[in-house]
Amino acid sequence: MHQGRSSALEEDSGARPPCQLTAEGVPPTLRAGALRRHGGRGDPHAPPVRARGLVKRYREVLAVDHIDLNVLNSEIYGFLGPNGAGKTTTLRMALGLIRPTEGVVELFGRDPMREGAAALRGVAGFVEAPRFYPYLTGRKNLELLAALDGGEAHRRIDAALETVELSTRAKHRVGGYSHGMRQRLGIAAALLRAPRLLILDEPATGLDPAGMRDMRVLIKRLASEGITVLLSSHLLSEVEELCDRVAIVKEGRVAYEGALADLRSEAGHSYRVRSSDNDLAAVVAATIPGVEVAGRGERALTVRASEPQIAELSLALGRAGVAIVALTPEQATLEDLFFRLTEDGGRATLPEAA
Ligand SMILES: Nc1ncnc2c1ncn2[C@@H]1O[C@H](COP(=O)(O)OP(=O)(O)OP(=O)(O)O)[C@@H](O)[C@H]1O
Ligand SMILES: [Mg+2]
Repeated sequence: MHQGRSSALEEDSGARPPCQLTAEGVPPTLRAGALRRHGGRGDPHAPPVRARGLVKRYREVLAVDHIDLNVLNSEIYGFLGPNGAGKTTTLRMALGLIRPTEGVVELFGRDPMREGAAALRGVAGFVEAPRFYPYLTGRKNLELLAALDGGEAHRRIDAALETVELSTRAKHRVGGYSHGMRQRLGIAAALLRAPRLLILDEPATGLDPAGMRDMRVLIKRLASEGITVLLSSHLLSEVEELCDRVAIVKEGRVAYEGALADLRSEAGHSYRVRSSDNDLAAVVAATIPGVEVAGRGERALTVRASEPQIAELSLALGRAGVAIVALTPEQATLEDLFFRLTEDGGRATLPEAA
């Protein structure tokens, strides 16, 4: 896997991205010997990722604007935001690929800017897309990476290929791999390091629905084995099934960090109420504390309410002589809230960040 020289890497710390090779070779700080000399796997009690006041400025572009993140042990943490929100830039800083303009990010209590390779021990992943030598086979690419990592890495190749279901294609050149296969090979490359923390930038982007499902299954499996996963995505639906906690970023700032369940309860539930008298139903709904009439069509109302409140509404409608024809829960509220958080005016409607 090679990381071509890009402008983002020009001011590098000298740290090789975990599981990404540079075409020019590996900086001395990251050679296997250097890794072994540093020893240790960080503070076992420190969180896998802790970012404080992280800023990245590219001339007049403020890509990341004082981001705080808290990734806890053994969780799958979603880093969500629309295109250009600053996800990749933040993950690059977390992986020690680029230097923050301000602020600090620690991996298991260690700062890659200060501690170089030692901070990246037990950490693996890729940003944007894993890159490989296309004219070499999948296995050969992994062998090169294993040689750079040294230690036990070489002995993990077969198991890593097995885990990502590429054993039968390992003897084929990477140039002929599909997008999904390359993504999976990227994860195999990360697994050579026996990571405790996996950082994945949009691992499912560009995959078809079956590929996305396979990726979710794989990530869940890795997490069930105790690996902490930090993954970015621009799709809420993609992380909803995987992540308990998320950070939602917008224009370089965290609009929300916390449990998806809290966000969901903040969003409230919404229901579509079709009744025998839509106008009277709207009047009755307005009299019940906590019930909000969010929309009013010709034949139905959309109300936002908790479950007990919706039960109260149904009784009140009965007392008022309004017959309920259909009462349908609507699922879209979390998605709505995500859009509210990431589109114009989002920050005004925020729940308190955890
Ligand atoms: N090397 C760079 N030089 C100049 N500007 C950059 C550089 N890298 C990122 N940016 C800018 O920083 C902002 C955030 O970019 P970033 O790639 O982090 O967003 P993202 O959330 O990963 O978006 P996407 O979902 O499209 O991948 C963008 O405005 C981008 O143009
Ligand atoms: Mg990105």
